Amino acid sequence: MQWTSHRVRQSFLEFFAERGHRIVPSAPVVPYGDPTLLFTNAGMNQFKDVFLGLGTRDYKRAADTQKCIRVSGKHNDLEEVGYDTYHHTFFEMLGNWSFGDYYKPEAIAYAWELLTQVWKLPAERLHATVFRTDDEAYDIWCHYLPPERIHRFDEKDNFWEMGETGPCGPCTEIHYDRTPDLSGGRLVNAGTPQVIEIWNIVFIQYNRRLDGSLEELPVKHVDTGMGLERICAVLQGVESNYDTDLFIPLIRRIEELSGRRYPREDVRHPDGIAMRVMVDHIRALSFAIADGALPGNTGRGYVLRRLLRRAERFARRLGFQEPVLWRLVPVLVDIMGEPFPELRHHQRTIEQVIEAEEANFLRTLDRGLQLFEEAVMQLQQQGETVIPGEIAFQLYDTYGFPLDLTQLLARERGLTVDTDGFQHLMERQRHRSRQAQKVHNLQAQLAPSLQGLRSEFTGYDELETEAVVLAVDGQHVVLDRTPFYVESGGQVSDTGVLVLGGDTYVVEDVRRVGEAIVHVCSTDVEPARGERALARVDRHRRWAIMRNHSATHLLHEALRRVLGPHVQQAGSLVAPDYLRFDFSHFGKIEPAQLRDIEALVNEKIREAIPVQTRIMPLEQARKIPNVKMFFADKYGDIVRVVIIDERFSVELCGGTHVQNTSQIGMFVLTAEESVAAGVRRVEAVTGEGVERYVEQLRRRIEEEQRHAERLAEQLHRLQQELAYLRLEREIARIPDFLARAQMVKGIRIVAERVALEDMEQLKALGDRVRAALGSRGIAVLATVVGDKVQLVCVVTPDLTEQYPASELVARLARQLGGGGGGRAHLATAGGRHPEKLPELLQRVPELVAHWGTETVEAAS
Ligand code: ALA
Repeated sequence: MQWTSHRVRQSFLEFFAERGHRIVPSAPVVPYGDPTLLFTNAGMNQFKDVFLGLGTRDYKRAADTQKCIRVSGKHNDLEEVGYDTYHHTFFEMLGNWSFGDYYKPEAIAYAWELLTQVWKLPAERLHATVFRTDDEAYDIWCHYLPPERIHRFDEKDNFWEMGETGPCGPCTEIHYDRTPDLSGGRLVNAGTPQVIEIWNIVFIQYNRRLDGSLEELPVKHVDTGMGLERICAVLQGVESNYDTDLFIPLIRRIEELSGRRYPREDVRHPDGIAMRVMVDHIRALSFAIADGALPGNTGRGYVLRRLLRRAERFARRLGFQEPVLWRLVPVLVDIMGEPFPELRHHQRTIEQVIEAEEANFLRTLDRGLQLFEEAVMQLQQQGETVIPGEIAFQLYDTYGFPLDLTQLLARERGLTVDTDGFQHLMERQRHRSRQAQKVHNLQAQLAPSLQGLRSEFTGYDELETEAVVLAVDGQHVVLDRTPFYVESGGQVSDTGVLVLGGDTYVVEDVRRVGEAIVHVCSTDVEPARGERALARVDRHRRWAIMRNHSATHLLHEALRRVLGPHVQQAGSLVAPDYLRFDFSHFGKIEPAQLRDIEALVNEKIREAIPVQTRIMPLEQARKIPNVKMFFADKYGDIVRVVIIDERFSVELCGGTHVQNTSQIGMFVLTAEESVAAGVRRVEAVTGEGVERYVEQLRRRIEEEQRHAERLAEQLHRLQQELAYLRLEREIARIPDFLARAQMVKGIRIVAERVALEDMEQLKALGDRVRAALGSRGIAVLATVVGDKVQLVCVVTPDLTEQYPASELVARLARQLGGGGGGRAHLATAGGRHPEKLPELLQRVPELVAHWGTETVEAAS
């Protein structure tokens, strides 16, 4: 294979590098800082700010290969995936850009040159499309192509937009004709692999606003995109993307695992569809997880979950009953681990997350199907054909069936689903994401009036800054410089005050709009453009936040050292009063491990390590050993690296930190729990937070002490009552004792085991028995407490001289391995062999019978 995917990628980048383009890294597939996007869906995403005039770069031409996922929003190819051979949920987009530099003629010329000269594609197989009114592009194409191979299309095909809002413009596309007789002209944009779009060149000239209107941009740009998978198929001479070196090893692995052959020649064969879905979805899942997303219940997480469940459903069709998708990850890492080392880096995590998620779904799949069958049976009895929204929702909520899965099942039975009812029930769940959308809308509304404004952030070095007012709009104020930090990377926004025109305004929130930092005040602000202002951050609160942020970095590393290198950040909140950290970890965390983690963080605090920050190119940062660059803000070319001892913690981070770890004071973990399959959460406090926490504990201990005292009192009273009742019960048995007494030498002998707890009670009972005997009586009463025997011996007054109780017990005690003594009428003893007690009691009459002959010996 001459044009391996690796060579295609390289030759594309080299071609544009030679033509003055800066080669930039792919942005993560999980975009940070753009709430309009769930996943990166085009190469231009990372340059959106440049197109809108809100940001700049130090180059005017760029090229890259961008990891893209198209499963939601404006660009969503999910439903096609598997059924055809050229759509994907994940793909690589080769792209080149001009930021206000070259325009239509050069963009088209470059594309033509690369396709026909470097890659040597036959020119006669190429067609171009242009926007219906774009005569300029049409005329340029006339230099390269005969008119019958230049086609005009309308907005649907030749006007490209990133999403509901954002940069957009007319485009020209290059299509490749695979028909043997070059008859593909009428098949352009007809949805067949016979004639396929390979390159899209967009002329970005507008911003689509939230109200739908188009705003002309001050500068015009070029934005291009070419699907690597498609161009590889063309260059490798195969019709299906799945027959390129990007997919073949994955398909082969499924063939091995399933024992079924990939039906290459029949695109409609169910086994082929299932295999394509699996190999496609595993790529999207793996790249998303490598870039920090996890399957979940909302937003991005839910899209991933649906993707996995869709793949799982198709895997079932191939006969897989056990988790299988995760087994494809090593093959994917072999294919793509070199250009995208993050895959290799996070391989273990990707496998574990996917396997856990698969197992989780497979566990409920059968139970969900059962619920579905029951519902269907009921419906059929009632002659109904619509599955109620509640059932669909229950299947969704409890058994994890995405609505599309339920609809598919319903269709197979000739039924439909009450989607309105379902949607109604979903509303509540959506509430939260709507809140987030509101914030974004505000940003979109503000954007035009604040365009071009730029605030310098001074808050790394100072908490109070003198500044000039750039704009005031109701409660919103933009300054040229400000120490206020805008929520990012988990760290919450600062609060504080603005002193402006002699008035003091409370700043409740801060937001970033383009390059402007907008202070949101609690009341409307008197317009005062150009005036001086003083911006003051709430110092106390900010210090608490900084302590928690630096502690988060220490915690992150401590978790890896104690639990293992698989630990990866999955989410983080740095607030003034506490910090929360979610991370990948499978299984429980032992209390001893938690103590080790806490101890390691505190050790680093006591080591008083200076916290250093460095600004460097992303490429250089990537090379630092053990650098954590997983979940920081969207990375630009220049990044900020926070170092707390090179050998301990190096992390890409835009947040604010203490100057020295000793300023954190102390670190205490306050909670640990599981939040999702394979994701655990810890919470912790630092500094003053520890003081508050200790104070809380102290109060709780005091409360518990008081509670314990009350319980102890109660217990004591109950014990006394119980002892009294026990004694009463034994006293009630005295007539039985007397009735069972044996007569020896005219003496009544009582020998009984009783159930009493202590010697005092035993003596009290002894007194009562002695009184009951009156005269000519001897009694031995014994009780077992734990593994000890206690006994009392009483003798009526008329026999004390001849049979002193003290001597009788001494004799008995010896047999129990103990000792005893007392007075002639009542004596006590203790021993250690409860097992000997029954025999001993039996032999009391014998002892009395032989008493006298052995007294001397007995007394010794
Ligand atoms: N941004 C353009 C696209 O995604 C190139 O097709």
